[in-house]
Amino acid sequence: MSANRPAAVVVLAAGEGTRMKSKTPKVLHEIAGRSLVGHVVSAARELDPEHLVVVVGHGREQVRAHLEEHYAGTRTAVQEQQNGTGHAVRMALEELGQSLEGPVVVVCGDTPLLSGETLRGLTATHAADGNAVTVLSAEVPDSTGYGRIVRDGVSGAVTAIVEHKDASEAQRAIKEINSGVFAFDGGLLADALGKVRTDNSQGEEYLTDVLGILREAGHRVGASVAADHREILGINNRVQLAQARALLNERLLVAAMTAGVTVLDPSSVLVDVTVTFERDAVIHPGTQLLGATHVAEDAEVGPNTRLRDTVVGRGARVDNTVADSSVIGEGASVGPFAYLRPGTRLGAKGKIGTYVETKNASIGEGTKVPHLSYVGDATIGEYSNIGAASVFVNYDGQKKHHTTIGSHCRTGSDNMFVAPVTVGDGAYTAAGSVITKDVPPGSLAVARGQQRNIEGWVARKRPGSAAAQAAQAAAEGVDGEN
Ligand code: UD1
Ligand code: MG
Repeated sequence: MSANRPAAVVVLAAGEGTRMKSKTPKVLHEIAGRSLVGHVVSAARELDPEHLVVVVGHGREQVRAHLEEHYAGTRTAVQEQQNGTGHAVRMALEELGQSLEGPVVVVCGDTPLLSGETLRGLTATHAADGNAVTVLSAEVPDSTGYGRIVRDGVSGAVTAIVEHKDASEAQRAIKEINSGVFAFDGGLLADALGKVRTDNSQGEEYLTDVLGILREAGHRVGASVAADHREILGINNRVQLAQARALLNERLLVAAMTAGVTVLDPSSVLVDVTVTFERDAVIHPGTQLLGATHVAEDAEVGPNTRLRDTVVGRGARVDNTVADSSVIGEGASVGPFAYLRPGTRLGAKGKIGTYVETKNASIGEGTKVPHLSYVGDATIGEYSNIGAASVFVNYDGQKKHHTTIGSHCRTGSDNMFVAPVTVGDGAYTAAGSVITKDVPPGSLAVARGQQRNIEGWVARKRPGSAAAQAAQAAAEGVDGEN
C-alpha cells in the first residue's frame, strides 16, 4: 500500500460554477452535511497523501476559510485566471515547489460521490501496470460534454483524450469518458505540463493533453474503468446537486440497512454522511438525521422528525420531534411534537412529552415532563414529575437564570418557576403556583390567590340569561331532592 501512497493529491476547484446561479462558490454547496469540495477532500485523505493541495480561484477567500475551518492541513494554490485544467495543476505543483517523487493524483472539486475506494483502485492499477498516467474512465449513457477516451483500434490501449468541443463525429460516438480523475507519475507530469499548448477550441491548457504527450514520448498510458459511472457525476447545476444528494443518500441508507438498521421508507429519509447507527435501530418515514447524530440499538426515530447532532440512546422512542445538540437517554420517550433545543439532556427512562420545548436542560433518570411545557436553563433530578403547562421562567429581559428541581418532586400543573429558584428533593407544589422563592425539601409550596365565591352574582348581574336560568334550575333541583 505504501508504494501507492501519493506524493500529492491535487483538487481542482478554481472554476466559477456559473450554472449554479449562486453567490456561493460551487464547491461550497453542500450535500449530506458536507461541502462538495469536502467530500472530495475526505475521499482524497483516504489515500493518505503527503500533500493535499486544493487549487482555488473564484471565491477563493470563502473556499480557503472553509478549508481552514474544516480540513486543517489542506494547502491551497491560487490560480488567478482559469486558463484550463492543465494550468491549474501547474499552479499546484508550483505551490508545492519541489519535484515530486511518486504518484500525483488529480481530482475535480465537484465530484462528491467519488469514493476513497475507487481512488485506491486507481492508484493500485496505476502502480501495478507501471503507468506514467492512468485515467479513471467510465462508460456513460450520454457522453455529451465530456472528454472522450480514444483507444487504439487494434491493441485497445488508450491513445488520447479528446474534448467534446474538439472531437470529430466518430469520436463523439464514444461512450467511454474522462472522469477528470487521474494518477500520474509526479516527475513526468511536471515535464509534460510544460509542453501542453493552447491551440484548441477553448484556448486553454488541457490537462488531458498530457496523456497524448506522454504516450508519444513512449510512456505507458492506461485507464481504470469505474464500476459505476454515477460515482463520477460532476455537479454543474442544482439539478445535478439534487441528483447527487439522492444517490449519496441511497448509498448511506443501503449501508445502514446492510448493517442491520430498519428504514421503513428510504425515499423519505435523509441522512448526512456523519450519522451513525447501531443495529436494530428503526427509522420511520419523513425523518432527517443530520450532523453527528447517533441512533443506538433498538431506538425508534420518526415519523416526521429532524435530529441534528443528537444522540438517541438504546431503546429510546422519538416521535414527531425536532432536536438539536441533545442527548436522549436509554429507554427514554420524546414527543410526539417536542422541540429539544441545544443542551437538552434527558436521562434514562425519562420523558419529554407532547408540546414540550426544552433548552439547556438536564432532566434526570425517570423524570417526566409530559405536557405543554417550556423547560429552559434547568436541572431536574431523578424520578420527578413536572405538571402540565409549566414554564421555567428563565429570562428577566436581560439575563438568563437557572432553575433547580430536586429528585422525586411532584410539581403541580400550570406552575411558573421564576428563576433563579430551587425546589428541594421530595417537594410538592400546588397547581397554578408562581414559584418565586426556594422550596425546602419535602414541603408543599402554594403560591396562588385564594378562591372566593360571590353567591347569587349571576342572578343579580345577568338576570334572564341562559346562565341565570341554568343556575335557577340547579337550585330548584337541589330543593326538589329535599
Ligand atoms: C473536464 C475534462 C474532461 C472531462 C470532464 C469531467 C479537461 C480539459 N477536460 O472538462 O475531459 O470529461 O472534466 O467532468 O480537463 N478548473 C480549474 N481551473 C481551470 C479550469 C478548470 O480549477 O482553469 C477546475 C474546475 O473548477 C473543475 C475542474 O477543474 O472542478 C474541471 O473543469 P471544467 O471546466 O468543469 O472541465 P470540463 O469542461 O467539464
Ligand atoms: Mg469546462
